[in-house]
Amino acid sequence: MMRQAGRYLPEYREVRERAGSFLDLCYAPALAEEVTLQPLRRFDFDAAIVFADILLVPHALGQDVSFQVGEGPVLEPVYDGASVAALSSAKLESHLAPVYETLDRLSSSLPDHVALIGFCGAPWTVATYMIEGGTSKDRRGARQAAWAAMSSKDHWFSKLIDLLVESSAQYLLGQIKAGAEVLQIFETWAVDLPPTLFQRFCVEPIAEIVRLVHAEHPNVPIICFPKGAGQLANSFCNGVQCSGLGCDAFVNLGEIELDARQSVVTQGNLDPICLLQGGEILDVEVRKIVDQTEVGHHIFNLGHGILPETPIEHVHQMLKALREAEGNED
Ligand code: CP3
Repeated sequence: MMRQAGRYLPEYREVRERAGSFLDLCYAPALAEEVTLQPLRRFDFDAAIVFADILLVPHALGQDVSFQVGEGPVLEPVYDGASVAALSSAKLESHLAPVYETLDRLSSSLPDHVALIGFCGAPWTVATYMIEGGTSKDRRGARQAAWAAMSSKDHWFSKLIDLLVESSAQYLLGQIKAGAEVLQIFETWAVDLPPTLFQRFCVEPIAEIVRLVHAEHPNVPIICFPKGAGQLANSFCNGVQCSGLGCDAFVNLGEIELDARQSVVTQGNLDPICLLQGGEILDVEVRKIVDQTEVGHHIFNLGHGILPETPIEHVHQMLKALREAEGNED
């Protein structure tokens, strides 16, 4: 599930309280290992995603990052050439070493049949948080910077994207070395990008990260999640040599036409609000996803993060419906 570990589980809330802040939890390998494993003690998932956050990279680059209760992330905004120049990847590895240690611990503690997933945010999405200073309503400041960079060769926004490409690739390579078997790149705010910007600031940077990682580890699968890409999903898969395409809840899996469909597996699609709702419609929607996809060509998942108020019983129901539907297909 997306946000597999988290606030819908009482045992997570307990550890989170013990850790102090959200970032303290991300940087405490024993506790991060524990919260990664918690959902697997309850549910028979096929994979575990390391507990961390996409905003650890800006933090590692020297930006002030904090998580305020009820408010989400807060960052000291980046807004010009000087604030980009102040960032540095010199301490990236030492800063992110605790995440590598969490992965290292997980590769020993997870059973063999459970895949270990590492991840990072895509440059555009991470840049939006860096520029807006947190989650914003429409990412307007970041979009303005992106358009300005389209007509000025040396613009600070392009430099920021380049820095994020390099740092993210290095971070993902470090995660593989530490034990990650599959990687995921989250482009949560792909929805903000019209086709011209989509190509330049979503497709090209992610394609470069995938190239850099595959140059050293050609066989590690990389799943990309360009949330809200809609009809641009096809051009995304033409431009990025990914193994998997994350789909939000607004994609009709039965109609998705990817030129790369045979080589790219889809993932996701179940609306987190449907999971929250539960009841008969949840069974129907689970079955629908199984019916719309071929065995071996889809990774069952939510279309976005699980909501904190989701009853745990609904997750059991979802998995039961899924296993039954799969059984009928075999
Ligand atoms: O279990 C997992 O999925 C692995 C860990 C993980 C987290 N964040 C932990 C987390 C992953 C893969 C992420 C990705 C992430 N983080 C994304 C991309 C995916 C998406 O959801 O769109 C984004 C945009 C972020 C940035 C971020 N982190 C925001 C905007 C927030 C606050 C909003 C919220 O839900 O509270 C976070 C906090 C966060 N990251 C939580 C968790 C479990 C909630 C933490 C808490 O308060 O205890």
